[in-house]
Amino acid sequence: MEFFSTLEQILQIGDPAKKIAHCTNFYEAFTKGEVKMEPADEPKVFESPSYAAICTIVPPTQVPRRSRFGTTEGRAVLLHAIAHIEYSAIDLALDACYRYRDLPWQFYHDWLEVAMDECRHFSMIEELLGELGYRYGDFPVHQGLFDAAMASLDLISRMAVVPRYLEANGLDANPKMIAKLERFTDDMAKRMKKALEVILAEEVEHVAKGDRWFRWACKRSGIEDMEKEYFRRVERVYPGTLGSKEGLNIEDRKRAGFSCSEIRLLAKKEVDCQ
Ligand SMILES: [Fe+2]
Ligand SMILES: [Fe+2]
Repeated sequence: MEFFSTLEQILQIGDPAKKIAHCTNFYEAFTKGEVKMEPADEPKVFESPSYAAICTIVPPTQVPRRSRFGTTEGRAVLLHAIAHIEYSAIDLALDACYRYRDLPWQFYHDWLEVAMDECRHFSMIEELLGELGYRYGDFPVHQGLFDAAMASLDLISRMAVVPRYLEANGLDANPKMIAKLERFTDDMAKRMKKALEVILAEEVEHVAKGDRWFRWACKRSGIEDMEKEYFRRVERVYPGTLGSKEGLNIEDRKRAGFSCSEIRLLAKKEVDCQ
């Protein structure tokens, strides 16, 4: 089995169960040393996301709004949105492995581990969605995460934009969803909350891995001011990021490698960070 060509195939699988099965087999083969790295081609820039096969893709403004957590449909919309993020995150982690060549073994191991976490997160959420009578693909989705990945093709930009910006934003968003679900005492609300807590706890490490490889890649390129570089790279894909973020999860961001000066630059107002 060849590493990069197999990943290229797995990346393009749309069916979630099939993707997860292939991902799991690939990860096992990789950890047993059964996968060789002999890339035959340059990495492809994909034109559409793998989930185009099963989801209707719409502009972000047309995605159903997450509200009414007390209703079955409102909960299904929320779970679907999370399932979509997790599904996209499987591809983002696999794409990091696929796109960058000649990196240390640990890089590939780190992002395959992340891909396996994302597979588990997706399955956990999909199970709850199924209990409500829905499945992944039932609501329209946007392809913002895919577009961001394809707009950040070099390693420094990718580590800045995907794990260290987008996944870090997830650390801020997750506790807000947990707080909204806390208002409900029924079993489903409790299980949704529990799933979000598992995701939050594991996502800190994904951001931390992004932080480590961002720094590694900056160092390799002789970049000394990594904070400046981070904002420069993120601003290129998401203009207006500096000073526009509210409700930051300071503790988890710090655990994932953000400095207090970066957190202050990200925040709108003065924040309590030591
Ligand atoms: Fe995740
Ligand atoms: Fe993640």
